[in-house]
Amino acid sequence: MAEFTLRLRRYDPESGQPPYWAEYTVDLEPHRSVLEGILQAKANEDGSIGIRCSCRAAICGSCGVMINGRAGLACHTHLDEALLGGRDGVIEVEPFNNMPVIKDLIVDMDAVHWKKIKRVTPWLIHKEPVPEREYIVPHENMVDVTQSMACIQCGACVASCLSMEVDPLFVGPAALAKSYRFVGDPRDAQQYERLKDLAEDPHGMYDCTHCFNCIEACPKGVAPMNQIMRLRRISGNDHHIVDRNNGDRHERAFVTLIRGYGLLHEAELLPRSYGGDSWFGKFAPAAGQEMASSLPVVAKAVMRRKVSIKGAMLGHKIPKADLKDVRRIYDLVEGKDERNELNLYITGYDEDLDETPGVMAATGAGDGAAASAEQGQPGMDPEDSPTR
Ligand code: FES
Repeated sequence: MAEFTLRLRRYDPESGQPPYWAEYTVDLEPHRSVLEGILQAKANEDGSIGIRCSCRAAICGSCGVMINGRAGLACHTHLDEALLGGRDGVIEVEPFNNMPVIKDLIVDMDAVHWKKIKRVTPWLIHKEPVPEREYIVPHENMVDVTQSMACIQCGACVASCLSMEVDPLFVGPAALAKSYRFVGDPRDAQQYERLKDLAEDPHGMYDCTHCFNCIEACPKGVAPMNQIMRLRRISGNDHHIVDRNNGDRHERAFVTLIRGYGLLHEAELLPRSYGGDSWFGKFAPAAGQEMASSLPVVAKAVMRRKVSIKGAMLGHKIPKADLKDVRRIYDLVEGKDERNELNLYITGYDEDLDETPGVMAATGAGDGAAASAEQGQPGMDPEDSPTR
């Protein structure tokens, strides 16, 4: 047994009092979970501590909290691990960010998380004609969506999403990963409509800024940001959806600039995103308007020395040999007949895929389904996994 100090953020909106911190000392074996610590404090010291939990085994997704500033499951975080991330020998536990607090560590999932999940039509809209028996689905397609199906709806990704912090209307990582679950399913009849809707929504899939927080926070390896990137690739590359938010144009400009310079040329990015993906983009009226409205931000960045005027105007330079390497990567990726996407949750590997025996399939995005290159889950017979 060992002693651990938990500092819990307490708040009861009905009391009219502001939030406050309260410390509790619990006596538990180090491998026990933060949830067990909270429950012990609740049982021994203050029965009014509010915490939501059920399975205590990282399955139901109820016990999501911020532990030392990071979103996670209280039942899935060992006390000794949490202590390493704490300050002054204290484990700090707060309610999830980005959601209103109901009481203490309990947040209103309906107000944010579930509302956003409903936003993406989270069910299959089947294709016609309906077969007499079951739909037969290629095995690799089901493996491809398994990663997003692993979501337990705990909301950790939503709580850690920086874009949502800035734009609370952002559809968000959990809902977009859920959307990929159906976009990647060849039985769904509305792949294009779903993508068009999420591309045109100003708070849709192009609102993600690649901060990777959701990938780090997810206790189930769903990697929501990766699912969002898949949505974008199918939308732009397969359906050629050019959205009114300039999301697709912005991505294309980004890719072109990296190819050209090896690093991002910030001053070129904005005009190309709005005026067309070439050096002449800056002369388009839409680009001029956007650049003018961005001047205050640019001036602030220069004053704070985040960018130099020379660096912003001329772009960054990398050694020629490095630039050649960057372009070689482009040639390699773009030279492939089919787009390969790795579902790391299933493969468990992120490299040497081609050399690894047991690779199941690498498919193109035929029928709108995401291309995937999958390998059997360790210990799992590919024939046993769901294919129908
Ligand atoms: Fe079910 Fe933690 S209590 S996931």
